[in-house]
Amino acid sequence: MAMWGGRFGAETDKELAKFSESISYDRRLYPYDIAGSKAHVKMLGATGIIPVATAKAIEDGLEEILHLIQDGKFTFKQELEDIHMNIESALIDKLGPEGARLHSARSRNDQVALDIRLYLRHEIREIQQLLRGFQHALFELADANKTVIMPGFTHLQHAQVVLFAHHLLAYVEMFDRDFDRLDDCYKRVNVMPLGAGAIAGTTLPIDREMVCRELDFARITRNSMDSVADRDFIIELLADLAIFAMHVSRLSEDLILWCSQEFAFIELGDAFCTGSSLMPQKKNPDIAELSRGKTGRIYGSLMALLTLCKGLPLTYNRDLQEDKESLFDAIDTVKMILRVYPPMIATASVRKENMYNAASDPALMATDIAELLVKIGVPFRTAHHQVGALVKYCNDHNRKLNEISLEEMRISIPDATEEFLAVFDPEASVGKREIPGGTGFNAVRQQLEYWRNRL
Ligand code: ARG
Repeated sequence: MAMWGGRFGAETDKELAKFSESISYDRRLYPYDIAGSKAHVKMLGATGIIPVATAKAIEDGLEEILHLIQDGKFTFKQELEDIHMNIESALIDKLGPEGARLHSARSRNDQVALDIRLYLRHEIREIQQLLRGFQHALFELADANKTVIMPGFTHLQHAQVVLFAHHLLAYVEMFDRDFDRLDDCYKRVNVMPLGAGAIAGTTLPIDREMVCRELDFARITRNSMDSVADRDFIIELLADLAIFAMHVSRLSEDLILWCSQEFAFIELGDAFCTGSSLMPQKKNPDIAELSRGKTGRIYGSLMALLTLCKGLPLTYNRDLQEDKESLFDAIDTVKMILRVYPPMIATASVRKENMYNAASDPALMATDIAELLVKIGVPFRTAHHQVGALVKYCNDHNRKLNEISLEEMRISIPDATEEFLAVFDPEASVGKREIPGGTGFNAVRQQLEYWRNRL
């Protein structure tokens, strides 16, 4: 007979039991379910709702169950539906009717909300720690290559000369925002819902603040109906993870391009690439490709949760059991990416000459010429137009910008001087961009110092 079987006259249909169970995946909540139950039962004892001796016996029983599960000696039963009833039933088996006092003043509706919040507090901090490792790997690669020059791209076209370190540190910025977003999400997770009961709280004289203190939450929830209906904090986390995954997919795309024969800007370590079963020459950047691909399933989890909650009437509905698999999958996927990516970054070897050669395309310095004109008083739009005409002249004559004489340059740019012929040095171009946040050697050194102190 099911734990809720009192009003039922028939055993649960077998197909329904299979359809309804969540123990196959929510078992991972066991440490949090037990921690929550321990705090709850301590409070039940302290408030005199149950005898103190019973509370103590239940706490000990829960501790024993924790160890059984940790040691792989616990048998999870599908007919007990979920982690909450599996643990409670084992407790009652152990303690007899006294164990049946644990669930006083509690429902699985507030219990599951508590469990997920406890679980997410743990996971958020773990993901943040791994994120720091990711930032660190990028920082190290940037720091080890702080004077390496490359072409910067807009529209995937040569745009302006930048430092390779500057490009990498752009990702460190993105991951830092991801870190901050998780901090913010943590605030919404770190609220204690127990005491909401099924929907309307309880007639028993519970002490919610005590449970809050025991479990180290920032505060208790203010509305029992919201407490059991709310899954915003899951959606918010999934949104944060989706943005993180989007960032990883962009980094992946850059790395994949850079590893291609066309770019040949970097090479990744053999241990972090795979080959082809057919083409003997292939060495593929699979980690980057898989991470880019896995971004799709993380977005999928976010969409699943938004859709799950759309139009749900208050308060708890069984639909909400479907929150877990998507959430777990997104967390597992993100953690896998975070574990495998940083060591791969650490193996990257930088093909400086190829980057330098690409950065030596004089077209990348067209803006520098326009800015030289601004310095001698020409309005920027006029300067832009004149340099545009110079580019057209060069294209028409099948020459590069640095292959023409001063006389020819003056056809398009009447104010050009000898100085204008000297702008085609990529180092000099980078070196002149020393504004804060710029790609100048010193500006990037300052960024590196910032991260060295921060990470
Ligand atoms: N396994 C359920 C879930 O994950 C726990 C809450 C069940 N509540 C209920 N009224 N059936 O949502």
